[in-house]
Amino acid sequence: MSKSPLPLQNVCGSEKQVIKKEALVKILRWHFGHSDFRGKQLEAIQAVLSGRDCFCLMPTGGGKSMCYQIPALAKQGIVLVVSPLIEVFPFFCQENQVGALKEKGIAAEYLSSTQTIKAKNKIYEDLESGKPALRLLYVTPELIATPGFMAKLTKIHGRGLLSLIAIDEAHCVSTWGHDFRPSYRKLSLLRNRLPCIPVLALTATAVPKVQEDVIESLSLQNPLVLKSSFNRPNIYYEDPTEIAKSVVHSSRSSEWRLRERMESLQRAEENYYRSKNNQEKQVSKVDKNSISGTLRESGSREY
Ligand SMILES: Nc1ncnc2c1ncn2[C@@H]1O[C@H](COP(=O)(O)OP(=O)(O)OP(=O)(O)O)[C@@H](O)[C@H]1O
Ligand SMILES: [Mg+2]
Repeated sequence: MSKSPLPLQNVCGSEKQVIKKEALVKILRWHFGHSDFRGKQLEAIQAVLSGRDCFCLMPTGGGKSMCYQIPALAKQGIVLVVSPLIEVFPFFCQENQVGALKEKGIAAEYLSSTQTIKAKNKIYEDLESGKPALRLLYVTPELIATPGFMAKLTKIHGRGLLSLIAIDEAHCVSTWGHDFRPSYRKLSLLRNRLPCIPVLALTATAVPKVQEDVIESLSLQNPLVLKSSFNRPNIYYEDPTEIAKSVVHSSRSSEWRLRERMESLQRAEENYYRSKNNQEKQVSKVDKNSISGTLRESGSREY
């Protein structure tokens, strides 16, 4: 006899059945062309769809975005995605992600200071309409903290249109992390102002103190805590077809290029120090053989 899915305790205390894997895989294949979920994606998606808070730790490139993009397609309502990256790297990150979703026919938008008033008003008009078309709305934590936007969100929530709050790069809430942003602290407002909406916190930062801080600061209630393996080769090389699809479907190819360039700069820096060390060792051997320190000077000038 097959087991029925376990009911999960949701943020308002009632119990709901989880959506079955098959139905979710269908959405994944249809919209994104991936054959199956990876890491802890499925667990995170099922948890938030059942109304439960979730803390999800996954490595960079692990597929955290899917954990809120699939719920946006599997359930009625709007998914609010809070991310700090719009202002920092608008062309590499959220704008790119929203563009890729739109190309797939998924109604997604972002609100940031780089947009025209006309573009913003168009989004607000949709949100205030009888039946908004929007499925995913990307915003910055700074915007959440403004009274005007919070009032709009409260209205949308009051009309029962909000299905999930996803907080990407959630480690930015923690003063223990390397990327602390004071505006993230204000996100705890969301829990009080928008009750009974599950909150999904996503990060690639594995420091335990930061994790505890995120859960506490965002007032997550009895969250499902998921931690994926940080073994990157398992993510990237388990199925070559998936890699090819990933590249084709990547919404973030420019970001990847940037990352690659940064990693290669880092490698160059490491090589520089390694060769500098070697050179210094060589020079010190020469010093021992009583040749003057001018060699050391000429060596250091090369750099
Ligand atoms: N189940 C899956 N199967 C194959 N590829 C996937 C799957 N889920 C996501 N991907 C792909 O993995 C890549 C990285 O996804 P994503 O940008 O969501 O990662 P991330 O965890 O948010 O990384 P970062 O920490 O850099 O923000 C994307 O190209 C995405 O299409
Ligand atoms: Mg991400």
